[in-house]
Amino acid sequence: MLQISGVNIDELVKKVGSPIYVYDEYKLDQNLKEYHDNFVSADYDTEVIYASKAFCCVEMLKLAAKAGIAMDVVSGGELYTAKKANFDMRKVYFHGNNKTDDEITMALEYGVKTLIVDNVHEIDRIEVLSDERNQNVDVLIRINPKISAHTHEYIQTASVDSKFGISIDDVDDIKTMIDQINESKHISFKGFHSHIGSQIFGTDAFEGTIEKMIDFISKNDFIVDTLDFGGGFGIRYVESDQPTPIKEVCRNLIDAVDKNLKKHKVKINKLCIEPGRSMVGESGYTIYKVGFIKKTKNKQFVFIDGGMADNIRPALYGAEYACDIANKLGEPKLEKYEIAGKCCESGDILIHDAKLPHVDSGDILVVYSTGAYGYTMSSNYNRLNRPPVVFCKNGHARIVIKGETYEDQLRNETDEAVL
Ligand code: LLP
Repeated sequence: MLQISGVNIDELVKKVGSPIYVYDEYKLDQNLKEYHDNFVSADYDTEVIYASKAFCCVEMLKLAAKAGIAMDVVSGGELYTAKKANFDMRKVYFHGNNKTDDEITMALEYGVKTLIVDNVHEIDRIEVLSDERNQNVDVLIRINPKISAHTHEYIQTASVDSKFGISIDDVDDIKTMIDQINESKHISFKGFHSHIGSQIFGTDAFEGTIEKMIDFISKNDFIVDTLDFGGGFGIRYVESDQPTPIKEVCRNLIDAVDKNLKKHKVKINKLCIEPGRSMVGESGYTIYKVGFIKKTKNKQFVFIDGGMADNIRPALYGAEYACDIANKLGEPKLEKYEIAGKCCESGDILIHDAKLPHVDSGDILVVYSTGAYGYTMSSNYNRLNRPPVVFCKNGHARIVIKGETYEDQLRNETDEAVL
């Protein structure tokens, strides 16, 4: 029987039902600490910023804060969650390519220190709103360094026509933005940001970005306080994935930064990275109960009590996952199954050709590495309730997000005249 941080999964299912998103809280703590302790330099300050879009809830943010980690938000909703977690707003970085006036105002009200500006238009709004409130704010400008990383097209962010950031080639626009910032009353230009994509293996693409960005800074004589190279570090979903250990990622990035600062005679005061997936992905498991089993001409289907509503990644990106029958861990895997969800969509297959022991109805299926972009991208498609989220640590389990009820889903339904 599978145990997660000392918690027996069959007992958890008996208590909480299924599906469940389960996190190994011990592993979460370890990952946060590993980033915090290894992304350090004697020459400048460093900040590890958790990209909360990977998994955002109050208890998660509390763990991050406790480990000395900062956080990135991209919406009023994530910002509100940060507030509810009592997150130190000086350690909140506000991203997004289309921040609304309400969101910028909310960030200023909360005392967020740094906004990452995506486009020329955004500066105008930050200027008006910070002037209105007579409040100072720091900004980084997001640069598209035009580095193509090997990952799914949908999660690449630095191709020529990406919707994110300002192209590294548009130097005049970048200079105009910096001038406008410098002339503004309340905005301070702090430096540049880049993020090249997600689930990228190795550190070559990041090292290439670092080299290109620092070269660009030096060639244009920009004075920068802070550099932020985003996130995107890959994790293991299936056996063939070979992620670089966190410690090594940190070392390689710092080394590349140091080498290029020296080579180009550039000075900085602060260096940041923004890992999301690699903080939480491998710490998360989704637990399902097997229902019906069906044979077609060429396939055997195992139907589970969740699917694309709790994990859209296979349908959206063709993402691969590994799984096991939690109550048959030691048994030889002699059969091949399609692990299919219960949604009305032919694409609702979580795993193709899963090698498993003989599966029976009532078995418990565990899907590994679902901790990032699982819960946060979940939906109520077919009016399925979102599963609860449970943190396990040293034999104890606690619910950090309750499972939805049908009532919850109907909470906002009404019949009221507006016009
Ligand atoms: N910083 C910025 C500005 C980002 O846009 C992202 C991710 C991150 C950091 C964190 O990247 P990570 O370390 O998690 O790779 N939904 C997709 C992933 C989208 C990533 C969006 N931005 C997926 O499920 O694979």
